[in-house]
Amino acid sequence: MTDAPAATGVPPDRTAPAAHPIAPLLASRWSPRSFLDREVPEEMLRRLLEAARWAPSCYNAQPWHYVIARRHREPEAFAALLGCLSSGNRTWCARAPVLMISVARMDFPQNGSPNRHAWHDLGAASTLLALEAAALGLQAHQMAGFDAAKARAACAVPEGYEPVAAIALGHPGSPDALAEPYRTRETSPRIRRPIEEFGFLGRWGEAL
Ligand SMILES: Cc1cc2nc3c(=O)[nH]c(=O)nc-3n(C[C@H](O)[C@H](O)[C@H](O)COP(=O)(O)O)c2cc1C
Repeated sequence: MTDAPAATGVPPDRTAPAAHPIAPLLASRWSPRSFLDREVPEEMLRRLLEAARWAPSCYNAQPWHYVIARRHREPEAFAALLGCLSSGNRTWCARAPVLMISVARMDFPQNGSPNRHAWHDLGAASTLLALEAAALGLQAHQMAGFDAAKARAACAVPEGYEPVAAIALGHPGSPDALAEPYRTRETSPRIRRPIEEFGFLGRWGEAL
């Protein structure tokens, strides 16, 4: 855990420097490590889950689930989730107001056959959750750096369901509250591959 003071002040402007115009909400989403010590009201959590709820999914199977722990309201569950994170993530997540894990149901409820797109659809739901967070002045930071077996035990996730990602959530704070190397990362340029590298016309490799 970090000895840095609780985050106050103004978060950096992390608006995506998009090469082509995109909806302002999309450009406003980013993944902070510094969060204000401000609770996220339950009504906001409901709105985040409602946004996730309206994601598209294969056969409308809706494989998404979230186990949520607020630092001040569910301190034991929060500590248990924190303990599942990789040591690097734990450093800055200790001050996040909310931690969660996303969990995918791995078969179709309709017939029990394997759902090959469960992780895909959970990711879509988490993206909508993150965008709704941005619309509310919050930000969500998704993480692969956690121990899924530990999270399964900590959150009593049943068989047939897979913990997929951890998510830290809250109002973003000042990078000054972070220890290095996280402080520098919080303000380093946001980089993306150009669209020509991944968007093809007609056949693989033919740039748009
Ligand atoms: C599935 C997934 C796993 C990630 N894992 C981590 C992680 O373990 N630790 C971390 O600091 N960031 C993690 N990130 C955040 C990415 O590093 C971040 O989204 C990327 O650098 C782009 O930055 P942006 O979200 O601010 O645009 C993860 C993001 C996703 C979607």
